[in-house]
Amino acid sequence: MASEIHRASTTAPVNIAVIKYWGKRDPKLNLPTNSSLSVTLSQSDLRTHTTASCSPTYTHDELILNGSSQDVSGARTQACFRELRTLRKQLETTNPSLPALSSMPLKIVSENNFPTAAGLASSAAGFAALVRSIANLYELPASPTELSRIARQGSGSACRSLFGGYVGWEQGSQPDGSDSLAFEVAPASHWPTMRAVILVVSAAKKGVSSTTGMQTTVATSSLFPVRANDTVPRRMAEMQTAIQERDFESFAKLTMMDSNSFHATCLDTWPPIFYLNDVSRAAIKAVEAINHAAGKIVAAYTFDAGPNAVVYFEEENEGIVAGALRKLVGEKEGWKGEAKSDDAVVEKVVKEAGVVQELLREGVSRVICTGVGEGPVKTDEHLV
Ligand code: ADP
Ligand code: DP6
Repeated sequence: MASEIHRASTTAPVNIAVIKYWGKRDPKLNLPTNSSLSVTLSQSDLRTHTTASCSPTYTHDELILNGSSQDVSGARTQACFRELRTLRKQLETTNPSLPALSSMPLKIVSENNFPTAAGLASSAAGFAALVRSIANLYELPASPTELSRIARQGSGSACRSLFGGYVGWEQGSQPDGSDSLAFEVAPASHWPTMRAVILVVSAAKKGVSSTTGMQTTVATSSLFPVRANDTVPRRMAEMQTAIQERDFESFAKLTMMDSNSFHATCLDTWPPIFYLNDVSRAAIKAVEAINHAAGKIVAAYTFDAGPNAVVYFEEENEGIVAGALRKLVGEKEGWKGEAKSDDAVVEKVVKEAGVVQELLREGVSRVICTGVGEGPVKTDEHLV
């Protein structure tokens, strides 16, 4: 039927980098100045749900996010639409019996089950879901790797949300970006015991966007070339080894040092960019106190372009890490299970916390308890 609506839906995950992407060598294609590596977080807790539809009855391309119409004229969304339509067109040319979906307007409807543009990687889940849902609609035989090339053009970090588990993004060297792709370092099942607590410090929109911030850093920071050319390449290799060997202490140390290195280049940007605030620094102190009390590294903090802390730990240390954070932060929305209180390590951390506890109690609005998870999942629940 000519008036038929074609549709396909997917969910897609958030990812939080442990080796950060910060800096573009080509802002149009979102080609980075360094490779990066992230952990995909479980969609039971944070997810984007997107339905892509097309119909000859539609009059224009449209994107509705959390109930409100978004501007689709931006170069990033347009690049994703264009690339996906080109791939569909190729299928239609080789098989003329296929419906001409590539020439129909698209209507995309999407919902994030967490705050948008609050430093919780909504753009990563959002563009991964947008690209995956349209690829499903167009029945493209494209692999997650091929789709990562397209999602990258929507938002750099989105390319890593096409995979579950532990995911790398190879910076590549081709000027057209054909080799700047995401790849699986290890599936979630390789190291399924990785957990994360997100301390949501501010759910408000952030001050300096990643896109603007990283461009200013590349242009002005003298620390930046050392990070991009020396520090990150070395740590990318070390991080992949740590993940292969499920070596939490190395994973954690690299994660914390890379977050600090990234935020140091932000401070070294002119004019300086501050993503961390007093509450973020209290979270760093809390993690240091937990590791000190445990006598080994059992927790790792990392911060994206905002003040929220993401703390990674292994399931076996949940009692110590989540237990201590819960005592420090207090009973806020998002903690799972009963609060435990009898652990000696937790008691020690709390006893010595002082002002750290005050800052966390006042500054953390809610928490999200999650862990490593799978990549995008096709669903028959349609939003159109
Ligand atoms: P965040 O820190 O949450 O990633 P950004 O400011 O970097 O914040 O990105 C937010 C932008 O990402 C939104 O304004 C929107 O353009 C895009 N985005 C977020 N969620 C979606 C979605 N579900 N579908 C499409 N685009 C989305
Ligand atoms: C700090 O992917 O949001 O979260 O490519 O301009 O959309 P654009 O930037 P974006 O930047 C993410 C930066 C980061 C680090 C990371 O996720 O690797």
